[in-house]
Amino acid sequence: MPTIGVGLIGTGFMGKCHTLAYRSVRAVFDTPLSPRLVSVCDRRAAAAEQHAAQCGFERATDDWHAVMDDPEVDLVSITTPNKFHCEMARAALAAGKHVYCEKPLALTLDEAERMAAAAAEAPGKTIVGYAYTCNPLYQHARGLVRSGAIGRPLFFRGVCDEDYQADPELPWSWRSAKAEAGLGVLGDMMCHLVSMADGLLGPIDSVLADCRIHYPTRPADGGGERLAVENEDVASALVTFKSGVTGMLSSSRAAWGRKNHLAWELHGDAGMLVQDQERMNELRIYRNEGPKSDQGFKTILAAPAHEPYGKFCPAPGHGLGFNDLKTIELANLLQAIADDVPARPDFTEALRFERVIHAIARSAQEGIRVQAG
Ligand SMILES: NC(=O)c1ccc[n+]([C@@H]2O[C@H](COP(=O)([O-])OP(=O)(O)OC[C@H]3O[C@@H](n4cnc5c(N)ncnc54)[C@H](O)[C@@H]3O)[C@@H](O)[C@H]2O)c1
Repeated sequence: MPTIGVGLIGTGFMGKCHTLAYRSVRAVFDTPLSPRLVSVCDRRAAAAEQHAAQCGFERATDDWHAVMDDPEVDLVSITTPNKFHCEMARAALAAGKHVYCEKPLALTLDEAERMAAAAAEAPGKTIVGYAYTCNPLYQHARGLVRSGAIGRPLFFRGVCDEDYQADPELPWSWRSAKAEAGLGVLGDMMCHLVSMADGLLGPIDSVLADCRIHYPTRPADGGGERLAVENEDVASALVTFKSGVTGMLSSSRAAWGRKNHLAWELHGDAGMLVQDQERMNELRIYRNEGPKSDQGFKTILAAPAHEPYGKFCPAPGHGLGFNDLKTIELANLLQAIADDVPARPDFTEALRFERVIHAIARSAQEGIRVQAG
């Protein structure tokens, strides 16, 4: 079994998710490449050491350049804050490595374009962490749309709400600074919604948007001074897809009670599809068929019939979780590397989503409809 040497940079929320995926992907998917956990990096040396010891990496470092220089690393996971994505990804590609980068692609559109250009010229494959599109029921929904199950698509309404910044007194973090995070809720959450809308209906053509900062300052971690929040807490946009379908997207990071309300509905002229990631093992469909007295939404539960659910579990209705989506995402990347074909979404495709979120930001700032493609 050929192995692929893995380097991971960043051991926080997403770093752990990537590691779990590396550890389970071959057991679940019998992938053509077997990950070997070579090197883990965190700028906090103790965190890197702890992650290596707990998760089985061969070495730990607090210098990400060491990962790029390591000849035994073939694939680099970038799970650091957004401001590092561009520099790290370009260094990895220049070193001939494959790159598994977390979303959003970068701080700015200019950086994202440079990343896509570097990827286009490099031998390495790239993928960006839009894991919700790996949900087997989302993929099933795509198939239903293509097969005409709800007729001609008319209208898309999508929401991506969480409450992780709903508390006005929550301490300031890197996510609130333009120099660290770039966009606010647009880069953190709206981009997921854009990736899902794009997968169902194709590219978004133009947007007319509004963005707001609800809480302009937050206390510094540990108390004392208050620091400025520089990016949007909430964003809303009217969108037109290239196909002519219209829609509405909105996203808030200050929506009390919402934990992962990444939800969408697609209206067709013969029915409707509805999905919410807080109930990620369900897909609802309404079809305008049969006697009116019996019509209503039907709930489809995730099952082995929805590939690749069955790779994880032979029993319907038992449910997958968020980390399983990352395992599917990684399996897609390893298969693409083995087959020497682009992974999806690669940097080029992710750049399309990036253009939409930056178009939303510009539209809100300038008060005009903006082309996204
Ligand atoms: N796909 C998803 O659903 C999803 C969910 C959450 C976060 N993300 C993305 O993942 C990325 C990381 O977010 P997170 O929530 O894991 O953040 P986090 O703060 O939990 O972890 C970031 C880690 O990177 C380390 N780090 C920071 N600078 C570094 C450097 N220069 N060198 C090495 N290590 C460094 C930090 O010490 C920390 O351990 C962000 O881009 C975020 O947008 C994606």
